[in-house]
Amino acid sequence: MTWRTMTAIILGAAALAGCGQQAKTEAPAPAAGGGPKPLASIHELMLSVVDPAADEIWGSVATVSNASGVNEHRPRTDEDWAKVRNAAIALSEAANLLVMDGRVVAHPGQRIDSEGQPGAPTGAIIQKRIDGDRASFAAYAAGLQAASMEAVAAVEKKDVAALETVGGDIDVACEACHEQFWYPPTEPAKPKS
Ligand code: HEC
Repeated sequence: MTWRTMTAIILGAAALAGCGQQAKTEAPAPAAGGGPKPLASIHELMLSVVDPAADEIWGSVATVSNASGVNEHRPRTDEDWAKVRNAAIALSEAANLLVMDGRVVAHPGQRIDSEGQPGAPTGAIIQKRIDGDRASFAAYAAGLQAASMEAVAAVEKKDVAALETVGGDIDVACEACHEQFWYPPTEPAKPKS
């Protein structure tokens, strides 16, 4: 196929798309299939994307003391810095994935970490909390995104101190969301007798 036939096909498709507008009754409106489809649950995003990416950033700067002395662990090679950058990019985009319409807390059968402990919420309870205050959930996700972008900036400057500070900011962003939506106990504390 030459690029000319390609162009003809593309133009043809565009013309057809135009026709669709006039013949609405015959051609169904584009199905939801064309848009983004949330597949993983929030639970899965936490375990597969958010947590590993944050660990990569947190683990990149550390002071390790052992028998052989104190070892300042920090990114040194271009490869080290690229790993941290990749994690920061993944984390900043994960924040968008978290707030996608239709993203559920957990799929049937998925057991969240604390489930079963006295007073710990089930996925259904966390879902209710999020559905009841999507604005706060989105604000926390935006906070995580901002902190992750700061991590990207620290990497661009190869600024180890900034990377360490930003690691703290990321932790604060994680915990802010967890404290409102995940950690609060579901049963009121029993009055002391
Ligand atoms: C916008 C809200 C939000 C932000 C921000 C957020 N989380 Fe979560 N996270 C949740 C919710 C809700 C749950 C509880 C339900 C679940 O387990 O998925 C959770 C659960 C988890 C879990 C437990 C998963 C399990 O086994 O059930 C881990 C680990 C986790 N988050 C890590 C992180 C880390 C690390 C960060 C920051 C880098 C972070 N989260 C930021 C909402 C958030």
